[in-house]
Amino acid sequence: NVEKKVDSVLSLMTLEEKIGQMVQYSGTWDLTGPASGDKNQYRKEQLKKGLVGSMLNVLSIEATREAQKLVMENSRIKIPLMIGYDVIHGYKTIFPVPLGETASWDLEAMEETARISAVEAAADGVNWTFSPMIDVSRDARWGRIMEGSGEDPFLTAQVAVAKIKGYQGTDLSDPNTIAATAKHFAGYGFAEAGRDYNTVNVGDNQLHNTILPPFKAAAKAGVATFMNSFNDLDGTPATGSKYLQREILKGDWNWDGFIVSDWASIAEMRDHGFAEDLTHAAEIAIKAGSDMDMEGGAYETGLVELLQEGKVDEELINDAVRRILRVKFKLGLFEDPYRYSNPEMAEKIDFQEHRKVAREVAKKSIVLLKNEKSLLPLASSVKNIAVIGPLADDKNTPIGNWRAQGEANSAVSILEGVKNAVGKNVKVTYAKGADLGVGERSFLKPLEINTTDKSGFKAAVEVAKKADLVILALGEDAFQSGEGRSQVNIGLAGVQKELMQEIYAANKNVVLVLQNGRPLEISWAAENIPAIVMAWQLGTESGNAIADVLFGKYNPSGKLPVSFPRAVGQEPLYYNQKNTGRPSNPTDVTYSAYTDERRDALYPFGFGLSYTTFEYGDLELSSEEMDHNSEITVTVPVKNTGKVKGKEVVQLYLRDMVATTTRPVKELKAFELVELQPGETKEVKFTITEEMLQFYNADKEWASEEGEFQVMVGGNSRDLKVESFRFN
Ligand code: IFM
Repeated sequence: NVEKKVDSVLSLMTLEEKIGQMVQYSGTWDLTGPASGDKNQYRKEQLKKGLVGSMLNVLSIEATREAQKLVMENSRIKIPLMIGYDVIHGYKTIFPVPLGETASWDLEAMEETARISAVEAAADGVNWTFSPMIDVSRDARWGRIMEGSGEDPFLTAQVAVAKIKGYQGTDLSDPNTIAATAKHFAGYGFAEAGRDYNTVNVGDNQLHNTILPPFKAAAKAGVATFMNSFNDLDGTPATGSKYLQREILKGDWNWDGFIVSDWASIAEMRDHGFAEDLTHAAEIAIKAGSDMDMEGGAYETGLVELLQEGKVDEELINDAVRRILRVKFKLGLFEDPYRYSNPEMAEKIDFQEHRKVAREVAKKSIVLLKNEKSLLPLASSVKNIAVIGPLADDKNTPIGNWRAQGEANSAVSILEGVKNAVGKNVKVTYAKGADLGVGERSFLKPLEINTTDKSGFKAAVEVAKKADLVILALGEDAFQSGEGRSQVNIGLAGVQKELMQEIYAANKNVVLVLQNGRPLEISWAAENIPAIVMAWQLGTESGNAIADVLFGKYNPSGKLPVSFPRAVGQEPLYYNQKNTGRPSNPTDVTYSAYTDERRDALYPFGFGLSYTTFEYGDLELSSEEMDHNSEITVTVPVKNTGKVKGKEVVQLYLRDMVATTTRPVKELKAFELVELQPGETKEVKFTITEEMLQFYNADKEWASEEGEFQVMVGGNSRDLKVESFRFN
């Protein structure tokens, strides 16, 4: 069995070789050619000596084979490398950015896109992805909100499990599966003021009830690795937190995988003012339970000395190496180090099939925010369509940030999608109108937000005037969200709002299609524009998927995984807030509210319209009481009251009315995706179990407490049918 094999390999290793397994390098040089520069020469030699456990950013069959060969053909101990990469929302075929894909609430679809990502990545030699990112995030200013599943711990946990299943399958040694990473452990999504890498000040209650549940679910689902995070959490950098890593993850949750640091996050403990030097940083990190050092150089330079000085016990090193070897055995690398760098696998990939899945999931991810005058789906009487806006013919933005090997400018644009969808008797005209307002775009270059060129307005207005209807494509650049992309303004950048106002003045039939990686502040549009479609950054098949929705080939079913604010000043904004001692009262100011804006969301969590309507009947509870040995069944009739078939995400929320710690006014605890024919009613049933009532309480335990609970069911977090029961 694996444990015996791990122990036998460990027993053959020198101390230096053990520490080598805890080192990860980025392959920033061409591994297939001569290494340039002293640093790369040195690294190549380290690989040959077997003193590197993993490489990241080494891609292609040739390069990954070469890296593996350096180790296997030269080192004494011959332990294959793990090859890691950020496969975040697809590898070559690009799927919606994670926040967008979560809007589908379709767990099977999300598992499938992870499976496809694994197949494509594995065929290129990658055997480990740094995904899923499962940081609950509630602040739209934070650029990385795009990479997660939004504001809710339960939904994020469900997505985490689906993604892990998709990447890892049931057998990690299958060469079509890759190891997954639950990241970033922990608290990164709560960066103060939405500023990336910033301090996180949350207490134990918030940590356990909101931040940790998705990680706990990931550990339970058998995720192979965790990545710790850059931020400090209540005074301790997460990378140096024994509490998080040794006590909770490896202790309480009994998880047997390994933790990789984030990029140089061990070394950065010096900048946090938590470690004196690199060696001290290594000491803190190994004691805290960080097993592998990503590009930080701390373990490589510091651990031998720390052992010699007796500051670190070799058992800590053995534990880390055991964990790393365990994953390598599970991946089947000891049987065949080249199993992921196999040209035959690459030849078998059916990219056409993957594109079909990309279109399916992209259309499911679209959220219809507003549809007045029933402008959508577009009627067959619409014969002259203007497609206007900086994102109308943009083939790059839908690929999003963290695009792995997705080619720049390879997505189907909205204009292309519309042209593909219409017959010959429909005229489609195009005008860009303006730029996005963010200047030149690239991964590392800071953006120049708010450029002011309006020279394209006139032509765009002319095009709008002549059309029956305008599809107006606005939003964000692909590199406006993602790592290091925090913003204090979350409205439409540049002159986009003015362009929208002028187009609307010229033609009232405007369908606004938004592509963005974060919730945007779109109050003016919500007030004035008759139809609004949230299309995120949907990946390779974006334009076709958008056209499927606009023309009614697909009835939109997406629901927001994150609240959309009325104003940026509301951030962080989320539905599962506490009641406070002074819940809002519109007739008085001394309540928890704002004096210049409403406090609720413009579009709440869970919200999304359809081309049909759904009516919820009253809730029926199988009992008004429940105890440790019983459950309650909640039945709710949901009727399709419109004229077309549609899918609805039926959502169940609970509220614990009085507890030993204050509790949120509602928390998502279950959901079901149902499809209904026109006129059809389905009785949707949910089972309330004791586990759903549990929380991290005043005694620092996961427990349920006696008392009254409210159960709420509906199609979003705001419009809900309510009943009560007692838990004894
Ligand atoms: O996986 C990422 C992480 O999310 C941010 N820092 C770099 C890592 C590796 O690219």
